[in-house]
Amino acid sequence: MRRAKISIIGAGNVGATCAHWAAGKELGDIVLVDIVEGLPQGKALDLFQASPVEDFDCRIIGTNGYEETAGSDVVVITSGLARKPGMSRDDLLAKNVQIVAEVTQKVVEVSPDAILVVVSNPLDAMVYVASKVSGLPPQRVMGQAGVLDVARYKSFIATEAGCSVEDVSALLMGGHGDDMVPLVRYTTISGIPVTQLIPAGRLDDIVQRARNGGAEIVGLLKTGSAYYAPAAATIAMVESIIRDKKRVLPCAVYCDKEYGVGGYFVGVPCILGAAGVERVIEVELDAREREMFNASVAHVKELCAQTEKLLSA
Ligand code: LAC
Repeated sequence: MRRAKISIIGAGNVGATCAHWAAGKELGDIVLVDIVEGLPQGKALDLFQASPVEDFDCRIIGTNGYEETAGSDVVVITSGLARKPGMSRDDLLAKNVQIVAEVTQKVVEVSPDAILVVVSNPLDAMVYVASKVSGLPPQRVMGQAGVLDVARYKSFIATEAGCSVEDVSALLMGGHGDDMVPLVRYTTISGIPVTQLIPAGRLDDIVQRARNGGAEIVGLLKTGSAYYAPAAATIAMVESIIRDKKRVLPCAVYCDKEYGVGGYFVGVPCILGAAGVERVIEVELDAREREMFNASVAHVKELCAQTEKLLSA
């Protein structure tokens, strides 16, 4: 059987950690790309040299060009600046639009059949850029945000309840911004509604902490943003695609009629498999949840309008 080929663009903390998780899971051969000479080559060689210790069989190479990425099954785009303390994800827009547009163009030139998983921020706008520039069918372009945001939310729930993270099941929707929508009503601990185990006031604090999850890490690190959890979340999506697992994951995917979004990429639950986004799942939202979701979508639309201007400038 032919091994899958995964290219990861950007060999910074997020990109390199994606390569690490993907290699550990033996998802396929990995090509790490970065503009900085020696950086992707060095990290790829270092990771490859871990393989006899950790027992993974993957070809891992680093490069400064795109030739080596040709024929990729999945391409993860992490390129762009990360935020520093005091910055919002939106502050990165102008710089990262250009970077992601250029990278996407180079990627699809040599891998026209790939599925793109975008990780760069501001996420919802960057998926939009990748979709516009690539011209790929919408089911083959998606953004990683919800898997990370819900993982943060679940980790706080587990800590508060004093239970295993494995037993927390939850849903989160909307954009990857401060107005993302963790859905308490769809959160359970082994099937038990979380509201029976954690008092309402504490749940509100947890929702707020999840929304602020990225900024909390930026504030602690001071020199950049999170990467272990973002990379693990990205590779969960890549694994579901490569292994056709059909996991139900919250991802930034194209919604037109779905949720009445009208043609934007926003975080909703979907099934990820070999074809990419195989189905968008529409869950019932009550009036308050709907209001929060609409507010988040309105923010995404505003970002896309700014992006549109930057792309045509
Ligand atoms: C975060 C960044 C990566 O949420 O968006 O940590």
